[in-house]
Amino acid sequence: MSKPRRPLIAGNWKLNNGGQDGIDLARAIAAEVRGNDSVDVVVAPPASLLHRVSEVVAGKVGVSAQNVHQEASGAFTGELSAGMLLFAGCKWVIIGHSERRQFFAETDELVKAKTAAALKAGLQPIVCIGETLAEREAGKTLEVVNRQLDAFSSVIKDKPGVAAIAYEPVWAIGTGKVATNEQAQEVHAAIRQRLAGISAELSRTTRILYGGSVKADNALGLLNQEDIDGALVGGASLKLDSFMGIVNAARQVA
Ligand code: 13P
Repeated sequence: MSKPRRPLIAGNWKLNNGGQDGIDLARAIAAEVRGNDSVDVVVAPPASLLHRVSEVVAGKVGVSAQNVHQEASGAFTGELSAGMLLFAGCKWVIIGHSERRQFFAETDELVKAKTAAALKAGLQPIVCIGETLAEREAGKTLEVVNRQLDAFSSVIKDKPGVAAIAYEPVWAIGTGKVATNEQAQEVHAAIRQRLAGISAELSRTTRILYGGSVKADNALGLLNQEDIDGALVGGASLKLDSFMGIVNAARQVA
């Protein structure tokens, strides 16, 4: 089977691998990526490493930030703008991760502003959405996902295929509880259908990644689903073998 969209495998290192271990891992991943690879491979190290990781991967691996500020410049101590991330070598930025929503009070409105700022500067956003366990158990999964998607879909519609969307059910993140292939596909299909209501091209070209306890041994089943175009990987992205296992699964379906 071959996928209608080029698979994208992104490793979100979160607050990990922030020293020489991160540089070494990035270099090792780049050494495994082929010139004519059928998969886009991206790593999102801590911000302090972005510049150096960009240098060691030399364009073979995409580099992503884990967050961005919505303003281009100004009195916002401690923040980084999209333009600054671009200068540090990033092509991508993760926006609205559930940990940002939960621990840093990021709202749907802020996610929209950050997505707009990233696109304006020429960064490719990976915008995260997903329901909590309580929301799933209350039967509100699609209501929540649609609300989060509707908040920013108007800003991605004029650049179809540039932004990726990551569906990350909060209950599957770092818990070892992966969504079943069918549970994930159901939500991915609903997201794609919702995008079709905005534009057919947006729906056809947007890569929708699954995230939440993706490992080398469950990646193939997920990636074989029609509307799953890649993975946003946390824990399994911190080591070469487990991350490359997922990249290899994506190569099989590409
Ligand atoms: P885990 O793969 O560790 O569950 O994390 C998923 C995630 O949050 C990626 O952004």
